[in-house]
Amino acid sequence: MSKTRILSGIQPSGTIHIGNYFGMIKKMIESQDDGELFAFIASYHALTSVKDSEFLKRNTFEAAVNFLALGMDPVKSTFWVQSDVPEVLELYWILSNHTSMGLLERAHSYKDKTARGLATNHGLFSYPVLMAADILLFDSNIVPVGKDQIQHVEMTRDIAQSFNNHYGEILVIPEAKVDEVVATVPGTDGAKMSKSYGNTIDMFGVPKVIKKQVMGIVTDSTDLNEPKEWENCNIYAISKLFMSNDELLDLQKRYATPGEGYGHFKMTLLEKINNYFAPYEEKRNELLNHPTMVKDMLSDGARKARTIAREKMRVIKDAVGLSY
Ligand code: ADP
Ligand code: TRP
Repeated sequence: MSKTRILSGIQPSGTIHIGNYFGMIKKMIESQDDGELFAFIASYHALTSVKDSEFLKRNTFEAAVNFLALGMDPVKSTFWVQSDVPEVLELYWILSNHTSMGLLERAHSYKDKTARGLATNHGLFSYPVLMAADILLFDSNIVPVGKDQIQHVEMTRDIAQSFNNHYGEILVIPEAKVDEVVATVPGTDGAKMSKSYGNTIDMFGVPKVIKKQVMGIVTDSTDLNEPKEWENCNIYAISKLFMSNDELLDLQKRYATPGEGYGHFKMTLLEKINNYFAPYEEKRNELLNHPTMVKDMLSDGARKARTIAREKMRVIKDAVGLSY
């Protein structure tokens, strides 16, 4: 029996924070043991919001370096940059003709952006069709996504059903996989950690910046000489990601014992964060210093992905009549 094919994409959106890591990247890396992982940097999708070419180039490269440093295995998995496999745009056009306007008009992400008065364009409107093409081009079975992306996978299923109803069982109907267990990682102010809220703790940042972010975690103003509550404390909530149960019990005792302040707990957390990411940092620096090596890995990934994409497009083009 062939292995389950897991596919996921991530937009090259710049600095990554610990919310991205625990919410998404870590799971993607771990899924390499559950099936055949196909993962890509969604550079075409990024064009819907990024108009600065240097920014896009740099972030595409850095996103690749980050994933490789964090454990993406380019031999075991297929890892590429979306725009290196342009077949996806051929499928995007074909699928566009099986996507009703009503379906796209109902997309939450598009509706949210128009409601906020942002300038919209056709790329943004048709974003879900490109995402459907990403998924369907590789016969993906499982698409691990965050809650905000579930609707896009449902739209992919609708588009694929409509295509199959017309041309026969050609496209594999994918399933979204949402991890309900991983709660949203809280930011330094207790709200969802997000770069748009300015409440992040970065993963691979300048040490001084990370220290400032940790020191900026919002707490109440209980005095040094009073016991403190860990239950609703933002420092404790973030510490949970980095500490074992024993370490957490020890931290709870320190909260209950007068004499230490929140500054001390922040320093403990900072040290934990630094130790946690230090091995990855080393690998990351090595990759940053060897860009040709990274580019070669991405080219190999694109070659592997393209072989599959070309064969699938041959079948699809024949089915719709684009061969003669
Ligand atoms: P941001 O909110 O900082 O702009 P993105 O929307 O670019 O982050 O998210 C990239 C990935 O990281 C998505 O898969 C998203 O689900 C995940 N992610 C982002 N923030 C968090 C968080 N605070 N907790 C869990 N997962 C998160
Ligand atoms: N839209 C996804 C996001 O913003 C990224 C993405 C693009 C994707 N194509 C995909 C995710 C295909 C899963 C499968 O997070």
